[in-house]
Amino acid sequence: PPGTRYEAENATISQGAVESNHAGFSGTGFVNGDNVAGSYTEWTVSGVAGAATLRVRYANGTTTSRPATIAVNGSTVTRDFPGTGAWSTWATASLPVTLNAGSNAIRITATTANGNPNLDYIEVAP
Ligand code: GCU
Repeated sequence: PPGTRYEAENATISQGAVESNHAGFSGTGFVNGDNVAGSYTEWTVSGVAGAATLRVRYANGTTTSRPATIAVNGSTVTRDFPGTGAWSTWATASLPVTLNAGSNAIRITATTANGNPNLDYIEVAP
């Protein structure tokens, strides 16, 4: 199932901006996080308690992977976001998460000075 989509342009952004200059995004734009470690985008997701799949749609037009931590209610994993070939070429990363009933905070934080990849949306599927 496609799951529920949460656009990055509706999320909370720390050090970054909503932009729309690279085609192929969903909604009205994507988040271009600043090229610094610690910049993040955080979504508030309503969940059913238990296992779910988190999908992250992103673009990285460089040839250098952009690792980030993905924190779900404070429980953190690190993911690489490899180059996608162009800023207008979007890819989806998937990972298992555990959600709470009700509100869940999902935060993607850059861990290197290159910042996050551009972020289009997350989807959460049971
Ligand atoms: C370019 C690109 C941005 C991207 C940035 C980056 O400036 O146009 O969309 O966010 O590189 O390196 O993060």
